[in-house]
Amino acid sequence: MKISVIGTGYLGATHAACMAELGFDVLGVDIDAAKVSALGEGVLPFHEPGLPELLRKHVATGRLRFTTSFEEAGAWADVHFVGVGTPQRAGEHAADLTYVDAAIRSLAENITKDSLIVGKSTVPVGTTRRLRDIIDKYRDPSVSVGLAWNPEFLREGFAVRDTLSPDRLVFGVDNEADETVLRSVYAQAIADGTPVIVTDFETAELVKVAANAFLATKISFINAFSEITETIGGDIRTLADAIGHDARIGRRFLNAGVGFGGGCLPKDIRALQARASELGLDRTMRFLSEVDSINLRRRDRVVHLAESMLGQLLGKKIAVLGVAFKPDSDDVRDSPALDVAVRLFNSGADVAVYDPEGTANAAKRFPRLDYKGTLEDAAQDADLVLLLTEWNEFRALRPEQLAALTSGQRIIDGRNVLCGDEWEAAGWEFAALGQRFVPAGELADALMR
Ligand code: UGA
Repeated sequence: MKISVIGTGYLGATHAACMAELGFDVLGVDIDAAKVSALGEGVLPFHEPGLPELLRKHVATGRLRFTTSFEEAGAWADVHFVGVGTPQRAGEHAADLTYVDAAIRSLAENITKDSLIVGKSTVPVGTTRRLRDIIDKYRDPSVSVGLAWNPEFLREGFAVRDTLSPDRLVFGVDNEADETVLRSVYAQAIADGTPVIVTDFETAELVKVAANAFLATKISFINAFSEITETIGGDIRTLADAIGHDARIGRRFLNAGVGFGGGCLPKDIRALQARASELGLDRTMRFLSEVDSINLRRRDRVVHLAESMLGQLLGKKIAVLGVAFKPDSDDVRDSPALDVAVRLFNSGADVAVYDPEGTANAAKRFPRLDYKGTLEDAAQDADLVLLLTEWNEFRALRPEQLAALTSGQRIIDGRNVLCGDEWEAAGWEFAALGQRFVPAGELADALMR
């Protein structure tokens, strides 16, 4: 079986390399010629642990190739996976389906043998049936072109592992023959015990957005409690641990902090609300607007804490550690860390930024921040240090390591990964999201009264 993968971003490039690892001949297709040529030379244009090795290995054997030609893909492959982006539409909540529609149409126009198109992109419910019509309009009537929806659940930072050993496979199909093709593509994972859910198109589309909406809600749930513990006292980490012991709740995705970002959770909860409204269900997903607001208020909280610690931001030196939306990624799309850094800069602070992988992408979006190559350079002479992405390098930070560099001993832990007692014992003013914070000045005033 020959496989093409349309779209070579995080999802497509990973899927293509993993399909080659499983022994298939694979052709990656993208309209971005520069990306195709880099990938064809075994160069991955983004950071994803374990993927560069897989890419180089299979480019070298010739099992994995890349092209910009739909004509080539349409004549060659038996199964075409579509993993192009579905970003948020500018100025709207709805998903932009331009790339999906274009990819499906180009495939339909160029397929010259019986084949199956398998959608992997995250799409609003109802999309697959609409795409079926596009295929039927543009395909050569003498060839049969099937369509299935097979949502992807990989996480950035674990993309290879999640693709080769997924925790479930969802096949949205309308006939058994297409299910059989998908079962043979994923034969290895199925033999390893991965559960397979075979369902209709709508359910398959909904599984993906429901999963992301649930994860976003879980994060905002604990972050809502942060607003309470910040006001009255209490320990947000202990609260998460304690409720997490209940197997019905579970501890994962209950890490309080500066909140969720990235290319998926934020835009997916917005697109789901937009789709529900289109279906006349305005109230159904309205709670997700609250989930979104709680998430965005976390960023306000960090800026507010910085102001409380520094009195004013104008002219103050602030070291921001982390700009990627999460560790082990160089992705800065909708990154809470980058947003906070920019807001501090816009308030007149002198912001030095360090991230092990994310600075190049951040600099493309916001060139005016002062990007540094090391943690030490960023922290040099800082009045305040902010930890906003929990890379291991930052989790391991010790007060004595920074004390020699910074000019003030103030730190905000935006990801709840440091031990506040240790920093306070070393003489630092320490604040963390979800913890009550009383600025040193106000504490002294209160003691005087
Ligand atoms: C997410 C889903 O987890 C994947 O299953 C899905 O396939 C993917 O979106 C997608 O739709 O393509 P990803 O965007 O890679 O994956 O990132 P997550 O690991 O879900 O983290 C999202 C954000 O939530 C990050 O900013 C992270 O820092 C934040 N987060 C996560 C928290 O603030 N607290 C937590 O407890 C967990």
